[in-house]
Amino acid sequence: MKGIVLAGGLGTRLDPLTRVTNKHLLPVYDRPMIFYPIQKLVQAGIEDILVVTGGNHAGEFLRLLGNGREFGLKHLNYTYQEGEGGIAEALGLAEHFADGGPVVVVLGDNIFSASIAGPVARFREDPRGARLLLKEVPDPERFGVAELDGDRVVAIHEKPESPPSRFVVTGVYMYDQRAFDVIRTLEPSRRNELEITDVNNRYIGWGDLRYEILEGWWTDAGTIESLYRASGLVAADATGGPASSPASSPGQEGNGVG
Ligand code: DAU
Repeated sequence: MKGIVLAGGLGTRLDPLTRVTNKHLLPVYDRPMIFYPIQKLVQAGIEDILVVTGGNHAGEFLRLLGNGREFGLKHLNYTYQEGEGGIAEALGLAEHFADGGPVVVVLGDNIFSASIAGPVARFREDPRGARLLLKEVPDPERFGVAELDGDRVVAIHEKPESPPSRFVVTGVYMYDQRAFDVIRTLEPSRRNELEITDVNNRYIGWGDLRYEILEGWWTDAGTIESLYRASGLVAADATGGPASSPASSPGQEGNGVG
């Protein structure tokens, strides 16, 4: 199984912090943000990893990460996204790397406590379709939101004004090779990006999307507030202090569609 960390985009929501560096190089507690998603993939037994980066500071990733020795890796792969064409566009750049096989994708600004070894192992056993990790949050309108019918996801809505549930799609995605076929057919959204939510909805249409609930705490780190929260959550785990975790759901697993 191959892993992909998406760390492109311009991080304008973090201006002025991102004026002279890339968002994923900013500190989350005691490490650069990009360390966390790489670590999650490595802990799940994934050793062949591609980092998709972009912007004016892409060279710094190489200086920081090198060949990934710090993570126990022998080698790291890199590719470059020009501009900010969306998460699906960034993933599309990984098609050659995926080489027809299934992939585990983690967004470079997603910080969470639980291991993804279990979900990855289950996908490895049956690497067909798409598998998402959902999380119940108090502010679903900031994310891709799952519309549920019983334990089935029937649609995903990107940043809806009236969220159909509080279960959001976290930035951990597992796909078979059809994701790349879908990406080639996508049209830019209203925010002029190729949306990963459109890829996921295509899998729902095929009856081929499954999900699990991500245990522990989860946050993105793409806004000043969430970047600050991410540092606090990591610090609490590191120091054994009280976790100021947002509402989290009890462990659940759903079959989803298909
Ligand atoms: O965090 C989970 C959410 O991530 C999902 O619930 C949403 O469905 C999904 O659209 C996404 O939402 P955001 O709008 O918050 O994503 P953002 O633009 O902040 O990008 C998240 C990461 O994806 C970013 O840290 C790097 C990568 N990315 C993003 C863009 C737009 C790229 O690699 N290239 C890009 O062009």
